[in-house]
Amino acid sequence: MSEKIKGPLFIGRSWAEYLKMFNLTADELKKMNILDGAAGASSFTAHMGKKGFHITAVDLLYDQDPDLLRAKCRKHLQILVKSLQPLKKEFVWTYFRDLDHLLEHRMLSCQEFSRDYTENPERYVPADLTSLPFDDNEFNLVLSSHLFFIYDHRLDLEFHLQALKEMIRVCKNEVRVYPLVKHQQKKSSLLKPVLDELSKKAELDLVKVNYQFRRGGDEMLVIKNNIRD
Ligand SMILES: C[S@@+](CC[C@H](N)C(=O)[O-])C[C@H]1O[C@@H](n2cnc3c(N)ncnc32)[C@H](O)[C@@H]1O
Repeated sequence: MSEKIKGPLFIGRSWAEYLKMFNLTADELKKMNILDGAAGASSFTAHMGKKGFHITAVDLLYDQDPDLLRAKCRKHLQILVKSLQPLKKEFVWTYFRDLDHLLEHRMLSCQEFSRDYTENPERYVPADLTSLPFDDNEFNLVLSSHLFFIYDHRLDLEFHLQALKEMIRVCKNEVRVYPLVKHQQKKSSLLKPVLDELSKKAELDLVKVNYQFRRGGDEMLVIKNNIRD
């Protein structure tokens, strides 16, 4: 398979990876209203929703039919695993034993997502992160994994700032973004200009997390307070 996908892959990490990537425990999430931005086929919303947590997922592609999204996810996962074959050294193989283990884990997330997307469509809102259909301060915690910074070859500084400011607008407490590195352990060149701009009005922190698959990817950006303009 030599096919290349244009734009972000429609795949998803598991709920267990989300807890690690964002330094979260299920207990602390109990009283929160949570938004997962650019959630893709992650099982985080499905799993937390099933447990009774208040959670909403947003993605550009959530206007699509469940069968179509399931097929897209499976296809993108196959392409991803194939493309990682020559790049294995750029990843840390502790959470996943090998590529087969990665594929198996992500396929399970895709299945859990697909089932919930079909049974509980109200949890899945089709929207662009730069223009969210939510009120100011509607959520306590807004997360976004594997869209910002790693797609800096396709998503420019203007997109990063517009989408992050929009996520901050709908968030009462904290926005968390992971990862910050792209490849060869280097942070995205957009990180500094993003931090410079957001730090004018928000409190920012780079915080170590207990997860690392992409080598060097053991930090998240935590944004506190609100930006109002
Ligand atoms: C690589 S996936 C990450 C999925 C999930 N967050 C995770 O970490 O497993 C990136 C997702 O971002 C979505 N996406 C891309 N641009 C977006 C935008 N402007 N607004 C909302 N979602 C977007 C894609 O459709 C895709 O599902």
